[in-house]
Amino acid sequence: MFVCGWPITLLLFRLFGSVTPSPVSTNTPAPRLPSQISPPSPFPSNLPPLPSSLTIPPLTSSPGEPGGRPHCPLTLSPSTLVVRFEDPFMANCSVSEMGFSLLGWEVPLASPSVTMDRFLVWRVDKMTEWNFTSTCYALSEQGGQCQINLPVTVYKPPDRVSISFVDHSGPMFEGRHYTLQCEVQDVAPVQNLTVTFYRGHTALGQLQSNDTERTPVTKIFTVDIMPSKEDDGVQYWCEAKLELGPEGPQHPPVETSQKLNATVLFGPHLICPTKLQVREGESVIFEVRGNPQPSVTWFRDGQAVALPTNSSRKHAGKYTVWTKGLGQKNFTVEVEVLENSGTTNSCNIFFLLAVLFIQTINRL
Ligand SMILES: *[C@@H]1O[C@H](CO)[C@@H](O)[C@H](O)[C@H]1NC(C)=O
Ligand SMILES: *[C@@H]1O[C@H](CO)[C@@H](O)[C@H](O)[C@H]1NC(C)=O
Ligand SMILES: *[C@@H]1O[C@H](CO)[C@@H](O)[C@H](O)[C@H]1NC(C)=O
Ligand SMILES: *[C@@H]1O[C@H](CO)[C@@H](O)[C@H](O)[C@H]1NC(C)=O
Ligand SMILES: *[C@@H]1O[C@H](CO)[C@@H](O)[C@H](O)[C@H]1NC(C)=O
Ligand SMILES: *[C@@H]1O[C@H](CO)[C@@H](O)[C@H](O)[C@H]1NC(C)=O
Ligand SMILES: *[C@@H]1O[C@H](CO)[C@@H](O)[C@H](O)[C@H]1NC(C)=O
Repeated sequence: MFVCGWPITLLLFRLFGSVTPSPVSTNTPAPRLPSQISPPSPFPSNLPPLPSSLTIPPLTSSPGEPGGRPHCPLTLSPSTLVVRFEDPFMANCSVSEMGFSLLGWEVPLASPSVTMDRFLVWRVDKMTEWNFTSTCYALSEQGGQCQINLPVTVYKPPDRVSISFVDHSGPMFEGRHYTLQCEVQDVAPVQNLTVTFYRGHTALGQLQSNDTERTPVTKIFTVDIMPSKEDDGVQYWCEAKLELGPEGPQHPPVETSQKLNATVLFGPHLICPTKLQVREGESVIFEVRGNPQPSVTWFRDGQAVALPTNSSRKHAGKYTVWTKGLGQKNFTVEVEVLENSGTTNSCNIFFLLAVLFIQTINRL
């Protein structure tokens, strides 16, 4: 955080007025060379006498060194700056000890005049830079000087976030691989961006970019999916969030994409167990599912039959169902008919249990 050494040259140039005013390009980082320094600002007339020798050793910063740790009594408020592009902001640099004669900011825009006050505020109406360094420095009356850097994050929420398939359109087939992409347009800084893919309300995965650009960029994030029959009708979408830390806005900027309706072609699948028990008098129900909805034909001993609605012992035995949907499949199932008192594993029971369960939940 503390870097010492260079502003001495800079200050001396300023004090002696030997710098030829030269324009500063607004998109260069903080100038380091005297020739790049902005025109000296109006100076207080009651300047303290400058040391006559230029060989004053500058304070050197060595934070790890015990004992002789040099002291830079500068405080920044805030200590880190997170600002939205084109927003106003201010930062206050103050010196907590006596014995410092001058306080200044080395910044790329709206540079305030050096002061002999205890603090100096850098105030900007509209942030128009992306990548720069900003430094507050103080010159000590004993001839030393020190400086403190203000880390700045300039951010911009994305213009648009959109989701789409890579090289695919139309319905998907279950069990195949597809790639979803989320395009985040014109966002900065991309290294603080987190992209989350969702399937309905479930997060599928979070992605971050390793890029370090500080200017706005457009990035594409991808995720591979392999849909199953449960994914038919779900919606895929993605969310782009700028994580800007505690100094950032209270609600981090979040943009979501449109929703992508998934159609998954599958089946036919038999939903019930292949061995089914029903009580006498009950109907036999088998559920066959698919997209497209399959047609079913039941066979018993090679004859097309209707499934019994009022089961009796004579209905027990093997049945075959011929299903035609996305593909054609034949399933063989076995029906067992119990006396009225027995417990069954029929699909009807599963269905009833599910209904009861849902009703219980709704009552809670
Ligand atoms: C800057 O900080 C100093 C010291 O904490 C304080 O006295 C002063 O009021 C602050 N100025 C502004 C404009 O916040
Ligand atoms: C980012 O870096 C990590 C580790 O270095 C790596 O595992 C990951 O794949 C990289 N991500 C991208 C998007 O390149
Ligand atoms: C920011 O500017 C510095 C100085 O010009 C440069 O070295 C650095 O690569 C830039 N950083 C990014 C992320 O553009
Ligand atoms: C932005 O991301 C970088 C890298 O992940 C992290 O070090 C930094 O703290 C983040 N900035 C903020 C303001 O959270
Ligand atoms: C996606 O599905 C939702 C409801 O399931 C529907 O309201 C919406 O119109 C569909 N969107 C498209 C583009 O088909
Ligand atoms: C079911 O069959 C039994 C005997 O086969 C018969 O007594 C009963 O009335 C039938 N029930 C219905 C609802 O058809
Ligand atoms: C299914 O069964 C029907 C009727 O027995 C038969 O015509 C058909 O070829 C079978 N299909 C398959 C895929 O086994």
